[in-house]
Amino acid sequence: MNTSEPVITLRGIGKVFQTDEVETHALHDVNLDIHRGEYVSISGPSGCGKTTLLSILGLLDTASSGNYVLNGHDVSALGATARARVRNAEIGFIFQAFNLIGDLTVQENVELPLSFRHDLGAAQRRARAHEALERVGMAHRMRHYPSQLSGGQQQRVAVARALAGRPAILLADEPTGNLDSRNGEAVIAMLDELHKGGATICVVTHDVRYAELAQRKIRLFDGRMVDEETFHRMRREDEQRLDALIGMQGGVAA
Ligand SMILES: Nc1ncnc2c1ncn2[C@@H]1O[C@H](COP(=O)(O)OP(=O)(O)O)[C@@H](O)[C@H]1O
Ligand SMILES: [Mg+2]
Repeated sequence: MNTSEPVITLRGIGKVFQTDEVETHALHDVNLDIHRGEYVSISGPSGCGKTTLLSILGLLDTASSGNYVLNGHDVSALGATARARVRNAEIGFIFQAFNLIGDLTVQENVELPLSFRHDLGAAQRRARAHEALERVGMAHRMRHYPSQLSGGQQQRVAVARALAGRPAILLADEPTGNLDSRNGEAVIAMLDELHKGGATICVVTHDVRYAELAQRKIRLFDGRMVDEETFHRMRREDEQRLDALIGMQGGVAA
């Protein structure tokens, strides 16, 4: 276990969505530490709260309860403007659908988040964008538009955009969800490379094969976080219950 200061600390995080008459409890008492240099996967079935959790981690949404400390700062109670500023400086977000802007070039897409950084001049922004595109092997497509690229290439550009701000952590929500398996594997291999280069990464996926590649695997069920050991214990108990049930029914039928 890493003993350095965590990049992310969540304590007692809950999220309730209020729609008309219905309350959806999307997250319950989530506690999580992610340390510098860790590669964590969060997996679980559709609707278990993965996107909700990642959106909170990425400061795209706020929790209904609990505490969130990001890189030493309590960000639980920040207003929208402060949240956007912290997000832009500390978080690199990779979406399932790439979310590139169609009428900006690759270079402009990668530079865009940097344009809100008052600490960076134009030359620095260009250099950062170029460096990030080099890291994902897309520097030779700098003047292309997203529509001129394959899905795999678009996701590489989106990864470069996430990297360019040198964030404290990369958060990826089903980054292979819109890709065929070959391109999906290439993106996963790239995340692995970035991790080996020192990046802190948290990937959300319902694909167990990709989740397995991470250094630490976290499972989410009905908005609750369970570790690997608990997950396997729960599964064993489920199987035993099922066996008992089948045994009973077999007994009745016989
Ligand atoms: N904006 C929202 N309004 C209401 N309910 C939501 C909203 N976003 C997500 N939910 C609900 O919260 C639960 C978790 O959703 P989500 O985090 O998207 O799951 P996952 O990403 O694991 O598929 C689901 O029951 C979903 O319907
Ligand atoms: Mg999701």
